[in-house]
Amino acid sequence: DKGNHRHFMAKEIHEQPEVVGRTIAHYVDMAALRVAFADPFPFDFKSLSRLTICACGTAYLAGYVARYWFEKLARLPVDIDVASEFRYREVPMTPGGLALFISQSGETADTLASLRYAKREGQHVLSVVNVATSTIARESDTTAATLAGPEIGVASTKAFTCQLAVLLALAVAAGRARGVLSADEERRIVEAMIGVPSLMTEALKREVDIEHLSRELAKASDVLYLGRGTSFPLALEGALKLKETSYIHAEGYAAGELKHGPIALVDEHMPVVVLAPPGELMEKTVSNIQEVAARGGRIILVGDARAAHEAALDTFATIEMPDVDPIVAPLVYALPVQLLAYHAAVFMGKDVDQPRNLAKSVTVE
Ligand code: M6R
Repeated sequence: DKGNHRHFMAKEIHEQPEVVGRTIAHYVDMAALRVAFADPFPFDFKSLSRLTICACGTAYLAGYVARYWFEKLARLPVDIDVASEFRYREVPMTPGGLALFISQSGETADTLASLRYAKREGQHVLSVVNVATSTIARESDTTAATLAGPEIGVASTKAFTCQLAVLLALAVAAGRARGVLSADEERRIVEAMIGVPSLMTEALKREVDIEHLSRELAKASDVLYLGRGTSFPLALEGALKLKETSYIHAEGYAAGELKHGPIALVDEHMPVVVLAPPGELMEKTVSNIQEVAARGGRIILVGDARAAHEAALDTFATIEMPDVDPIVAPLVYALPVQLLAYHAAVFMGKDVDQPRNLAKSVTVE
């Protein structure tokens, strides 16, 4: 049932304040402002020397965002790869390590094969899944569910942000266990997490502007997405979302990598979507976009009033975002990214819920 929406993708984008709120409420103690998992972990974050993350597509990109969190909040080294590579890399793993698999469907063939490999290598297997009865959930030692509800649209939206919510809670739990995060820092992050649903609702209010802007994307044959830090994997996700729904060629790049090649592509026909949430890297991202502007690129800036102010003169358009705590920015900034892809595809008359050549669940390698 699509409710009042034209497509499942639209419905699922708009459900995010609710389902992400529900997922966060499940993993935090609202009164104590602490992360709280119902059962104690059957492994010890404190003694881990490495975390291995493995998934496909959008789930992989959620893991890629989480890598920054585990490294920063828990000082835990992270190895991450797409499952189709991981499963054949013959990765040597130290027994007793932790391997984390992320999957909406819980049935993705490559992710499942990677999980089985990790088990054979003596890893403890933790999975973040949306379908609690799935094969990946069943074969894991521990699961942390995303409470996104059924996701019908082939392009993953609400599963992604719910994955981010669970992964952030896990990173905080790891940070506490490893003695990296103080109780005060944990409280600040948990407060920020609790604030996410209302910030998402705020971000969804930009939809009319985003719809308008998406027509600009629809005219393009190539689009670049740029970001730094956790906005880098989000840039990759933006490009993936646009490719799969609208069939427009798009690439995500780390903003600082631009001058090492891709800037050669930039001309006045090239929209460049720049994700510049607040944080220590915002100014660096903004300075990278000045280089794009100097070459005539049409910059669509996704940022708050400060970023807009810093970049004001040179942008083609700004999607002005509410003020967010940098740590939760990927959850909130995911929404304009999804809406851009959705509206570009709808404007172009594409079948957003069932893009050509794609299946919701990829059960063959
Ligand atoms: O069910 P999974 O989360 O394991 O699926 C992984 C990918 O196939 C999936 O995220 C795919 O990339 C989506 N079409 C992205 O929107």
